[in-house]
Amino acid sequence: KELYREIEHYTVDTKDQLEQFRLRFVSRKGIITELFESLKAIPQEDRRAVGQELNGLKNFALERFQSYTQLLEEQASASAAGPAVDLTLPSTPNLTGTQHPLSITRQRIIRIFERMGFNVADGPEIETDWYNFGALNFPDNHPAREMQDTFFIEKKSEGSEIDILLRTHTSNVQIRLMERQKPPLRSIMPGRVYRNEAISARAHCLFHQVEGLYVDRNVGFKDLKDTLYYFVKEMFGKDTKIRFRPSYFPFTEPSAEIDISCLICKGEGCNVCKQTGWVEIAGSGMVDPQVLANCGIDPDEFTGFAFGMGIERITMLKYQVRDLRLFTENDVRFLRQFEGL
Ligand code: PHE
Repeated sequence: KELYREIEHYTVDTKDQLEQFRLRFVSRKGIITELFESLKAIPQEDRRAVGQELNGLKNFALERFQSYTQLLEEQASASAAGPAVDLTLPSTPNLTGTQHPLSITRQRIIRIFERMGFNVADGPEIETDWYNFGALNFPDNHPAREMQDTFFIEKKSEGSEIDILLRTHTSNVQIRLMERQKPPLRSIMPGRVYRNEAISARAHCLFHQVEGLYVDRNVGFKDLKDTLYYFVKEMFGKDTKIRFRPSYFPFTEPSAEIDISCLICKGEGCNVCKQTGWVEIAGSGMVDPQVLANCGIDPDEFTGFAFGMGIERITMLKYQVRDLRLFTENDVRFLRQFEGL
């Protein structure tokens, strides 16, 4: 009985303990073998009963030994294979990237204009003064040419043959397009632009524009208005209010800026609309005849309109983003909100 109890309470957690267990109870030199040997000393008539008793004990010890051996083997192979897999736990999510909100907006803008027959054109970000300013009728002393707005790469005043700069708008592509192709022209030109401005919630030194250009016979201001009305309603919804404000650009005449009702604060006042309830989304106008002539297009035969809009601004209005810096910080908590769009 005592031995049963001993076997039952014997701790076998390690290989060493298993060996101790074997030596004590299972081996030929163990206590049970010893007891079998002492059977001889027992009177004949009791031997059978005691023998059976000992056999029971021996089998009990053997069973224990086998199950401990198996358990320790299983533990060893499990730890070699790493921690056990808990199939009831949710799996680690497989994170896929999302489109950047500015790419989503650019794509939407392109689709809307494609439906009106515009194709997509591209141009360089590093430009000469001629394509960024000169051909667009900027006078030599125009403030936009000065250092506070433009990042110059090479300056005439510092010995370079011409001024080379980072384009300050996508209007350079208008010029390159009109030089290359003859009307009819119907293109939009998305791209990156650069201005030497302090970074804030509303401004950045790097941002994106989409330029539009339509040149053909008999293109009028009405076509410009129709096109931009359609765009705004498609982009922001039928209830969006639009206003055209007379404006000035050296390369268009007449010129207008396009405002829409602020979709962030809905007229309550916010930093994006500077509390006015209106946000400017684009500059536009009829291409100045001199610009057509600069590109070898006869202004007596052809007319055209052009517009340029900021992709950041449109994205902010569309998705209620109040700070433009979020677009370049790459915070996944921001970017993930555009998943699936
Ligand atoms: N290029 C102008 C800007 O960046 C926008 C514009 C484009 C205005 C085309 C009129 C026509 O402000």
